[in-house]
Amino acid sequence: RTEQQEAILADIIQKAEPFVQQQLEHDHSGHDWFHIDRVRKLSLKIAAKEGADSFICELAALLHDVADEKLNDSKQAGLDKVEQWLLLHVSDPDVITHVMTIIATMSYNGGQNPPMETLEGQVVQDADRLDALGAIGIARTFMYAGSKGSMMHHPDKDFSQHDYRAAGKSAIYHFYEKLLKLKDLMNTAYARELAEVRHQWMEMYLEQFYREWNVDDK
Ligand code: ADP
Ligand code: NI
Repeated sequence: RTEQQEAILADIIQKAEPFVQQQLEHDHSGHDWFHIDRVRKLSLKIAAKEGADSFICELAALLHDVADEKLNDSKQAGLDKVEQWLLLHVSDPDVITHVMTIIATMSYNGGQNPPMETLEGQVVQDADRLDALGAIGIARTFMYAGSKGSMMHHPDKDFSQHDYRAAGKSAIYHFYEKLLKLKDLMNTAYARELAEVRHQWMEMYLEQFYREWNVDDK
């Protein structure tokens, strides 16, 4: 890329920031601007290690939660909003298609979505999943549970699977339902290394949580 092309890309990134900030302003479910900013930085770090296109990764990371169902009337309405923004700011149709494809297929969806096709998609998906792990991931999980009025833990397994569902599952349940599975779902080698360490922190956290819960920590 020429210097001039680089300047155009930098300008697109710079314009995406305030758009995303404004879109996520009122979110308290773990999709705040600082989540986006961490996913962007993680994406750039992984992209550098894996040889992915840093512009595509950064732009997709910045826009990845704007289309989230939790913030829109529907997933399609959210995707349309992102596409409108891209059509206004990006002239290369291949970039628009690539970023839209990443955002549309990125969510966890119970691990049921098809695998990411491009390296850039794999990088951004890894970065988003990494932010659900480790100390940050633990904090986000309890924030989310709190925002839904869910309990942090209920020791009765049956209770947590049936009657309990109406009130939302507990934060601790979410570790088993999703978070502890993510390390084995990483796409790239570098993200897997980072995930390994964050996973260990969660395991240690859970061990100590149960010790204190059962009052046998000494
Ligand atoms: P993202 O779009 O960043 O992948 P999600 O919308 O899946 O994130 O969730 C946002 C944050 O809330 C994540 O840290 C996730 O682990 C947490 N979270 C999602 N669902 C639950 C739940 N049922 N209980 C507790 N935490 C949850
Ligand atoms: Ni996210």
